[in-house]
Amino acid sequence: MAARALVLLGCGWIARRHAAAARRLGIPLLAASRDAARARAFAREFAAADAFGAYEDAVRDPRATGAIVCTPHDRHLPDALLALGAGLHVLVEKPIAPTFAEADRMISAAAAAGRILMVAENVHFMPAFHHVHRLIAGGRLGELRELHLVARGYRPHRGWRLDAATCGGGVLIDAGIHHVHNLRRWGGEPRRVFALAPPRTVAFGGEDAVDLLAELPGGAVGFLANSLGARGMPRVQWSTVTGTDGTCFADHRGRWVLLRGAHRTRLSLFFRDTRGHVAMLSAFDEAMRTDKAPETDGAAGRRDLAVVLAAYRSIAERRPVDVEC
Ligand SMILES: NC(=O)c1ccc[n+]([C@@H]2O[C@H](COP(=O)([O-])OP(=O)(O)OC[C@H]3O[C@@H](n4cnc5c(N)ncnc54)[C@H](OP(=O)(O)O)[C@@H]3O)[C@@H](O)[C@H]2O)c1
Repeated sequence: MAARALVLLGCGWIARRHAAAARRLGIPLLAASRDAARARAFAREFAAADAFGAYEDAVRDPRATGAIVCTPHDRHLPDALLALGAGLHVLVEKPIAPTFAEADRMISAAAAAGRILMVAENVHFMPAFHHVHRLIAGGRLGELRELHLVARGYRPHRGWRLDAATCGGGVLIDAGIHHVHNLRRWGGEPRRVFALAPPRTVAFGGEDAVDLLAELPGGAVGFLANSLGARGMPRVQWSTVTGTDGTCFADHRGRWVLLRGAHRTRLSLFFRDTRGHVAMLSAFDEAMRTDKAPETDGAAGRRDLAVVLAAYRSIAERRPVDVEC
């Protein structure tokens, strides 16, 4: 086998999505778990080239060129450093890390090693959300006025997410950071945020819901309502972006985008790779081959984190706060 294999660090839930994408792209996988039997079972299921019962052994395998860090948030830095130290490129799951200090160490370690650091922000690669980006960038909505991102559901958590220190917070730094990414990508860098968290209804290490208002460039306003403690919400939900010439509605599962307003009403449907995992892994593969920084590099991941951390400060201090650059 040519040295092009990717090491999966951690054989949990999200690792399955990466493994399925790697299989679609024909990229060989090396499955690494803290538990050798678990790695072997995972490798059998996803036809991985090999299985390892220790992360340290997997990253040193000569077939490996990159590693995908699929571990809890407080493990992202040590696991990324382990892979960089072995000379591998790194695709690290979102959030890049729970703190600026950890994110900065990871970014500078990748730069020092001359290796690609990419954040696995799959929403960036979702065809439907990319379509929204193109509509905005192409001026189809006119001047942006309001972005309403609503992602509310009910999902009690178990395991490491029950520990706020491991997770780095609650719902916003976990699933919510995907919507923060869309807010930034579609609306521009938020200057200031005001966030509130209602009383909790489900067990979570940190908050189980956040409502966030953001001041965006040009006076546009962003609103993000993100919750895992809201019973009774329908699965079909969408984000709404309104400009002076129209509004577009983007299905959160990435299946459709509806554009209405000054132009003809247009419904776009998306069927392939709706969650963007194949496109994301393909972008990582290309970045490794060309040595060109990917769009969701460490700096982009840090900017998503900056909005989350500003929201947490706003919740704690009960006032609007500037987003640190
Ligand atoms: N992009 C997305 O849509 C998305 C969705 C879900 C999660 N994620 C992200 O993916 C990462 C993993 O989340 P997940 O939902 O896959 O979690 P998970 O199912 O709990 O898997 C995490 C894996 O990390 C490994 N691990 C290493 N140290 C650990 C520790 N101290 N405690 C627990 N597990 C440890 C374990 O694998 P082994 O035992 O095999 O070593 C575990 O299975 C997080 O960064 C999360 O935010 C992203």
